[in-house]
Amino acid sequence: MNSAPVAERIRLSLFLANAVRDGQITTGLSTLVTAVADACSAVATAVERGIFDGACGNAHSENVHGESQKKLDVVSNDIVIEKLASVSCVRALASEELESIRLMPSSSRGDEDGYLVLFDPLDGSSNLEINGIVGSIFSVLAAPEAGVAIDESHFLQSGVQQVCAGYAIYGASTMFMLTTGRGVDGFTFDRHSESFVLTHPQLRIPDSTCEFAINMSNERFWNEPVHRYVRECVAGAEGPRRANFNMRWIASMVAEVHRILMRGGIFLYPRDSKNREFAGRLRLTYEANPMAFIVEQAGGMSTTGEAPIMNIKPERVHQRVPVILGSKLEVERLVDYHNQTAVD
Ligand code: F6P
Ligand code: MN
Repeated sequence: MNSAPVAERIRLSLFLANAVRDGQITTGLSTLVTAVADACSAVATAVERGIFDGACGNAHSENVHGESQKKLDVVSNDIVIEKLASVSCVRALASEELESIRLMPSSSRGDEDGYLVLFDPLDGSSNLEINGIVGSIFSVLAAPEAGVAIDESHFLQSGVQQVCAGYAIYGASTMFMLTTGRGVDGFTFDRHSESFVLTHPQLRIPDSTCEFAINMSNERFWNEPVHRYVRECVAGAEGPRRANFNMRWIASMVAEVHRILMRGGIFLYPRDSKNREFAGRLRLTYEANPMAFIVEQAGGMSTTGEAPIMNIKPERVHQRVPVILGSKLEVERLVDYHNQTAVD
């Protein structure tokens, strides 16, 4: 762990400037990431101050998934849109809280590389009423060339085409985790300097783990490979795994992925039969894909059980998908169990 005093640490602004200098990212992408990070620090403040600003509780509206929106879901969405609207290379946005894509003022510009941004402005927002951990997730794709009228089809790129992805976590401290395809770097918000500083460079997820995360209340809806996996974990040292496992469930994907980045583990929101209309609970383009990119860039693995998450060609921006991700050996085991069931 980097234990240099804050003043000596690299700030996000310098980190991005170095990446531009070294030809790793465009100036536009650097400006875009800066705007996302600014939006995240503003969301952190909105979450922290919600009770004083009258922003707690339900907004008495529903998002496109039929989930009731919290006031802070709406506030966070507005903050991210406002910050990104001022970035000239951002052509259009998609959000969990917007039914359709939103074109930005620069949607038809062509004088620099353009980008599309997809985001979940406040993930895990059911945790707000218990002062629990929430976060924001984002994914960046290349926009079509100038002159092409942008529509939803341009957002339907598979996860392997992501240019950049990350998330912010609003916990005991606010952190911003970023990948541009060269590993994962973690920044912590320093309230004194009002900036993100590099505190967790080049994170690696251990290959093996004895910690799993799944919503056990859905057990009766799981398929056999997931039943088998959890049964064997719970059997502990006396079972086939010959090890005692630990379980966590925070009900905030950001918090679960963050724990896995910090100490390893596996997270499952698998295909289930609870609602046959959906393939899973989580959303492919602005939850599963960016988290899969982060996890894989840190040496972990991600799958639906049947296929790598980032290979799926999305059919809709708000499409749902089964998610299994984390420490490589455990994810490989689950893929193996799915393959065995497929040939039985
Ligand atoms: O965005 C969906 C989400 O809130 C995730 O952050 C979290 O992992 C999951 O839903 C929690 O689901 P459940 O309500 O089943 O615990
Ligand atoms: Mn979410």
